Amino acid sequence: MKYSAIILLLLSVCISCQTTSKTVAATEISIVPKPSDMVITEGSYLFSKRTKIFVDNENQKPAAKYLSDLFEKAAGYPIFISETKGNATIIFTEDKSIKPEGYHLEISPKKINIKASDAAGYFYGIQTIRQLLPPSIETANSIEKNWSVPSIVINDTPRFSWRGMQMDFSRHFFSIDEVKTFLNYMALYKLNTYHMHLTDDQGWRIEIKKYPLLTEKGAWRVESSHDITCNELAKTDPSFIIDEQHYHNREGQRMYGGFFTQEQIKEIITYAAERQIEVIPEIDMPGHLKSAIDNYPYLSCTNEAGWGELFSSPACLGKETTYEFTKDILAEIVDLFPSKYVHIGGDEVNIESWKKCPLCQKAIKDHHLKNEHELQSFFNRDIETFLNSKGKRLLGWDEIVEGGLSKDGTMMWWRNWAPTMRDIAAKHGNDMIITPCFEYYFDAKHEATPFEKIYQYEPIPENFTKEQAKHILGIQANLWSEMIPNFKRLQFQAFPRFLALAETSWTSKEDKNYDDFQKRMNLQYKRLEALNIQYHIPPVTGLKDKVAFLDKVTIELNAPLEDMVIYYSTDGTTPSKTSKKYTAPLEFSQTTTLNTIAYRGNVASETKAALIEKQNYLESLNITPKTGALQRWTGVKQFKIVDSVALPKNATYQFVTVINLAGNEGIEQLSMVFKGYFYAEAEGLYEFATKSDDGSLLFIGDKMVVDNGGNHSAIEKNGMVALQKGWHPITIKYHEATGGGELSVSFKAPNGEKQVLKGNVIAHD
Ligand code: ACM
Ligand code: ZN
Repeated sequence: MKYSAIILLLLSVCISCQTTSKTVAATEISIVPKPSDMVITEGSYLFSKRTKIFVDNENQKPAAKYLSDLFEKAAGYPIFISETKGNATIIFTEDKSIKPEGYHLEISPKKINIKASDAAGYFYGIQTIRQLLPPSIETANSIEKNWSVPSIVINDTPRFSWRGMQMDFSRHFFSIDEVKTFLNYMALYKLNTYHMHLTDDQGWRIEIKKYPLLTEKGAWRVESSHDITCNELAKTDPSFIIDEQHYHNREGQRMYGGFFTQEQIKEIITYAAERQIEVIPEIDMPGHLKSAIDNYPYLSCTNEAGWGELFSSPACLGKETTYEFTKDILAEIVDLFPSKYVHIGGDEVNIESWKKCPLCQKAIKDHHLKNEHELQSFFNRDIETFLNSKGKRLLGWDEIVEGGLSKDGTMMWWRNWAPTMRDIAAKHGNDMIITPCFEYYFDAKHEATPFEKIYQYEPIPENFTKEQAKHILGIQANLWSEMIPNFKRLQFQAFPRFLALAETSWTSKEDKNYDDFQKRMNLQYKRLEALNIQYHIPPVTGLKDKVAFLDKVTIELNAPLEDMVIYYSTDGTTPSKTSKKYTAPLEFSQTTTLNTIAYRGNVASETKAALIEKQNYLESLNITPKTGALQRWTGVKQFKIVDSVALPKNATYQFVTVINLAGNEGIEQLSMVFKGYFYAEAEGLYEFATKSDDGSLLFIGDKMVVDNGGNHSAIEKNGMVALQKGWHPITIKYHEATGGGELSVSFKAPNGEKQVLKGNVIAHD
């Protein structure tokens, strides 16, 4: 008995020593962002209740505490932090040769060494250890027993010093706990700058002691236009339900709102700093200021708040009170936020108000300015002088370039359609942060700004010299909250795109590789699940938006990610885990609406619906049109959305050889109709696709083949149609609302390749 007990004991010790010294394969390791240099060595290190961290300077303590707290929450015991080496096995050492924020991490079965030259470096060493631990380290009261990390040697430094995320608190508000949760996500992926958009037309979200009405009244609203849209969407998609915690009864009314007190802001700043994150405040001025002007109406040119065609009426720049008011606010802001930068917005100003205002016009004259853009720059410079006097630097959206930049102003480039702003800033010697609307606006739909597009985007323009590139401090993604009414929806918009941004911000351009990133992502999804993050999964692949067939068709579906199960319905209901499970290709002989979904555990993909349509060949026309062009009608400010675009009675046309916006780029509220003929070279099933920003609709005869309607950023949609050989009438409608436009059309003949719609297959009368 005794003998066998000893053997058993020996056996169990050996089993544990085998597991702890197991060498881990590279495919089992997923660190995002990818480190600069990593070598896997033999064995692994096992954490236990006896694990001790040695720290010998203040910079090391926040990192050590972070690891200790993770263990306390997940494993049920903290890691002991000691200022004497003794039997400590995790050793922090200062190494001044390591670059800022960089670290050297060496894990062996007996020891973990972390070297860095600053607090951020130690902290990021710990975040790497966190990602080497099982995902259950993110879970409270985990049942995990084997807290081991692989033996490894890593040398790592970031590419950019500004690795940012922005949240918009005005359009929809978020609680302080949600802010902290978000800061933890940022810490995990080594992001270091948190930009808080605290004020805008739809709500003022920070206490300003000198102007109490800003929050007493300006933080509350009955219902914004965005709330109305969210409520409408919420009828069919609960992820748009506006968070109930921000509704309060005020003055006998149910109102939406909230704000951070200055004490809460301090709490956020401290919490962020413990995670090596700097908080940058944004107080948008002189536009996007309606929540202030509503309550201090003397600020505007007309002494009342209002709206221009697209943007709210700004503060009057001909009144001294505007300068006093904004500086009073900034005085409280600079006292509160330790950051070097203060963001003053400066975007989307309705300068029409200034054109009509005698005081603004007088200011232009008195200060020898050329126009309203220069008036805004005059204001910016005055604000900048004030910020500089407080030891701060001005940061603003790229519109601050338009009327001339100051020496020190830093620009956030967001308008893809204004690329020269980057060149002007670099030439002038101004720093910038790259946060383009088409790639880094995470409030955009996933299909418009997909994961791979974000990953592949290179933030330094090709034409930049090495010297110019030094002015790019880094990158940032923004989460504008008009259509983000709760924190779960925010997670859905942000993830997994967050990780693609993090990798571009940290990892060198040469070390990035999308295939390798996707492999690492498959493990990262488990961590996101452990963190209870509602991340986005695209819909099933292999399914067109509209499938045409003659007798019958077989549809094969593929899961968008590993480890997913597909479900579908054919009765028009939204599919779920209780729907039919997809196990083999589906065959259809009748017109059907197919609805699909895929699940990875409990995380659902986007649904995808397709009309599987039984068709007869559309008859061709007996005509001989003139090939090589279509007719194009163009109108401005006549329609709001493509779905209502119609040709006017006396339409005039241009002949165009390619279906695009040529000659009309940058025009807002632009509508177009292309009409003519399409040649089907053989009888069969044809595919068409449109990519458009905003919407487009493609018809063959009266039949809508591609429905890419609505107002949205660039999205590709496709559809199929059965055509007899010969000429068929084709119509393409297009509409651009605001913010840059795009249109392209392609087709695929039976047995052909996808190609641009042009040449001999198009014609006109
Ligand atoms: C912005 O999106 N208006 C900066
Ligand atoms: Zn004015």
